[in-house]
This record gives sequence, C-alpha cells and structure tokens, in this order.
Amino acid sequence: MEPVSTAVIYYSATGTVHALAEAAAEGAEKAGARVRLRRVAEQAPPEAVASNPAWGRHLEETAHVEVATLDDLAWADAVLLGTPTRFGNPSAQLKSFLDSAGGLWHEGALADKVYSAFTASGTAHGGQESTLLALANVFYHWGGVIVPPGYTDPVQFQTGNPYGTSHVAGEGPPGETTLKAARYQARRVVETTAALRAGRAG
Ligand SMILES: Cc1cc2nc3c(=O)[nH]c(=O)nc-3n(C[C@H](O)[C@H](O)[C@H](O)COP(=O)(O)O)c2cc1C
Repeated sequence: MEPVSTAVIYYSATGTVHALAEAAAEGAEKAGARVRLRRVAEQAPPEAVASNPAWGRHLEETAHVEVATLDDLAWADAVLLGTPTRFGNPSAQLKSFLDSAGGLWHEGALADKVYSAFTASGTAHGGQESTLLALANVFYHWGGVIVPPGYTDPVQFQTGNPYGTSHVAGEGPPGETTLKAARYQARRVVETTAALRAGRAG
C-alpha cells in the first residue's frame, strides 16, 4: 500500500513546539509514512522577535525548515498541527496559515483527512486543552476525522493529556516521555489513516 502522506505543520517561537514537531515527524516516519515537516511563516515584526533573544535564535536555527504552503495541506492524507498556547488559544501565526485555506475548504479538499494536534504552554494550567480544542473547531469545519491520543498507550498515563501531546515550557525543554508521546500520537494518526484508507478502498 502507498505510504500515508503526513504533514506536520507547526509554529514555534522558542523551540518547544519545534521539538514536539520533530518527534511527531519521527514517529510518523517510523510508522511508514511519507512526511513533510513544515513551519508556518513568522509574521511578528522584527522588533518583537528581537525583544526575545531565544525567539530570534530559534528563527535562525530553523531557517532551513521549509515554510508550510497550502500544497502541504492538499497533499496530506493526515495532518498534525502544533502551536504554542497564546492566551489559551492557538498562535496567530498558525491561525493565519489555517485562515488562508478557505479556497481548499470550499473545494472540499480538506474533508475526510485525519487531523490531530499538539501544543506547549508556559505554565501547567495555562490553557493546553483550550488550545487543542480551539484547533479542533477548525477540524470540524473542514469535515476532518479527529484522532486524539486519548489514553490508548501506556505513555499517555505518564503524560496525561488525551487531547494531544503537550509540554509545560516553563519547566524546560520536553523530556523523553513527552517526545515519546508525540511519536506515539503520530504513529496512531498514521495507522488510523491507513486503516481508513483501506476501509474506503474496500
Ligand atoms: C503572547 C503570549 C501569550 C501566551 N499565553 C500563554 C497562556 O495563555 N498560557 C500559558 O501557559 N503560556 C502562555 N504563553 C507562553 C507560551 O505558550 C510558551 O512560551 C510556549 O508554549 C513555548 O513554546 P515555543 O518554545 O514553541 O514557542 C504565552 C506567550 C506569549 C508570547
């Protein structure tokens, strides 16, 4: 069977969500998918980026990562989206990319794909679930098949977020358990997409 085309599309200002995105891409590849890891374009003004050295540094360090385009959404059978929490919501940068997909939505080209999401926040109760649920609103509008990790693997009982992999950035970079959860989430997405495709073909 053809590999599952999986797009991992994310925004990250200071690297936390980038690390989760890399782990998700790795998990998807290991599950046999054909993967595109893409960052959405930075839209903050240079003065804002310069106000936080970690932000500017991360932007430079990830300059080699291809910027997401609408073709990545059209191409994918499965899409994993990653964003930091911004006041309990997805970042404007990721949202802006999603808001540019009206044409694809109108053609029905975003329907019936599998979607899942991951996030990071500064603090433990800073809005991880609200951010992931806000992204899910988009998936509903697109007619997507939402595949959350739930508690379907032992690692989920360690990380404890059934909505999607998440990390508290204020505690430092994501550790092995969180990265394992991101790899697992992507594997579940790829396997579910393959099963759906086989079912539809049959
Ligand atoms: C404008 C702004 C709003 C934020 N809002 C929240 C928030 O509501 N809750 C929270 O815990 N952290 C909040 N944070 C912290 C970020 O979520 C945190 O820095 C981010 O998850 C780190 O991910 P990154 O390294 O991938 O950028 C906010 C940060 C900024 C700049």
